[in-house]
Amino acid sequence: MNIATERTFAEQQDAADSLAPLRAEFFIPQHAGSNSLYLCGHSLGLQPRGVARVLNDELKHWAEFAVEGHFASSRPWLPYHEQLTKSLATLVGAQPLEVVAMNSLTVNLHLMLASFYRPQPGREAILIEQRAFSSDQYAVASQIRHHGLDPKTALIEIGPRAGEDTIRTEDICSLIEREGHRIATVMLAGVQYLTGQRFDIETITRCARRHGCVVGFDLAHAIGNVPLRLHDWDVDFAVWCSYKYLNSGPGAIGGCYVHERHARSLDLPRFAGWWGHDKDSRFQMPAEFRPIPGAEGWQLSNPPILAAAPLLASLPLFDSAGMDQLRAKSLRLTGYLEALLQARLANALSIITPSDPEARGCQLSIRLRRSPTAARATFDSLSAQGVFCDWREPDIIRVAPVPLYNSFLDVWQFVAALEQALQ
Ligand SMILES: Cc1ncc(COP(=O)(O)O)c(C=O)c1O
Repeated sequence: MNIATERTFAEQQDAADSLAPLRAEFFIPQHAGSNSLYLCGHSLGLQPRGVARVLNDELKHWAEFAVEGHFASSRPWLPYHEQLTKSLATLVGAQPLEVVAMNSLTVNLHLMLASFYRPQPGREAILIEQRAFSSDQYAVASQIRHHGLDPKTALIEIGPRAGEDTIRTEDICSLIEREGHRIATVMLAGVQYLTGQRFDIETITRCARRHGCVVGFDLAHAIGNVPLRLHDWDVDFAVWCSYKYLNSGPGAIGGCYVHERHARSLDLPRFAGWWGHDKDSRFQMPAEFRPIPGAEGWQLSNPPILAAAPLLASLPLFDSAGMDQLRAKSLRLTGYLEALLQARLANALSIITPSDPEARGCQLSIRLRRSPTAARATFDSLSAQGVFCDWREPDIIRVAPVPLYNSFLDVWQFVAALEQALQ
């Protein structure tokens, strides 16, 4: 990306940015009487200003209608989660039947693995990426043990080549070519939490399905960050949370995708609960569980309305901005961050996130060229200046300019603050 390093360049980019007004839809944490520099949407997205209203509506409905709120209010709780389906389906590139808002991410991962990790003699393994997020590692290892198998033999991890930080698609595919016959389930990140690498979901899925593997993705860092076409890419299942790029608040309801081809596999082994049961007979409480066709058939409990309501404020922002426009801005914003870091601080750091814009979302992961203790001190000094980014052991600073609410000026100010902290 061609950039100028002066502040005026950032200001000109913001002035020409048609998405810039969206920033006003969010609360920005304050530091010393002015806006802090918030570049931490990969961890927790900012609060949309509309959230208080939707939450208050539900508190009001509860106060006014009590149990009747399930049916009587303007947004009845019984089908409440259905209001979220269309926007979520658009974000992940799926049909509404394939998507449901429910639970939280790790819970959904277990529910999906209960159905989509079905080890058979000779095909018992799960493939994950090295240094997957801890919860995913625990989940897959415990699923393997749950089947009486040993993660030492049934967990295959694919990592970067020696001296590299990210994983090559060709290496994932050649591992699947070699070992696919013994892999039951491929379970990778959409965007890797530590390195910010965006995996080539389409190519990996094609390759894995050709070898008879079931394929799932953890989209915690992908949904709302990069365009997704799960249905067309033929992915079997996916899970996500909505407190990062979907800006729906701590503990917000997560989500789940199941490909249409499994929608009517009603005998697929699964853990069942009454909310996944056929809607017409749910309240007759028959003894036998009959799942709703599609992703809704994996629901267990009636949805947490207060954890779902914020999505009604955040998802319309994606609907109105459009993922294509957000991605176009994101490419420029992250490209600008990368170019500015290289122009001003190339000697002090390296960026471990892929330099190919197609192989990343908005996050860049930075490694400072100094001892881990000095790097940590630099990070602490950024925090003291009111800069929100985050630190991942042993030596990574993650920074994410989010196109919904970050500006080019934020990026410019971040690089200036980092330069100062390095001194
Ligand atoms: C990649 C990834 N997987 C799993 C989780 C765990 O999510 P939860 O606590 O919602 O289950 C996180 C949380 O940040 C994550 O980033």
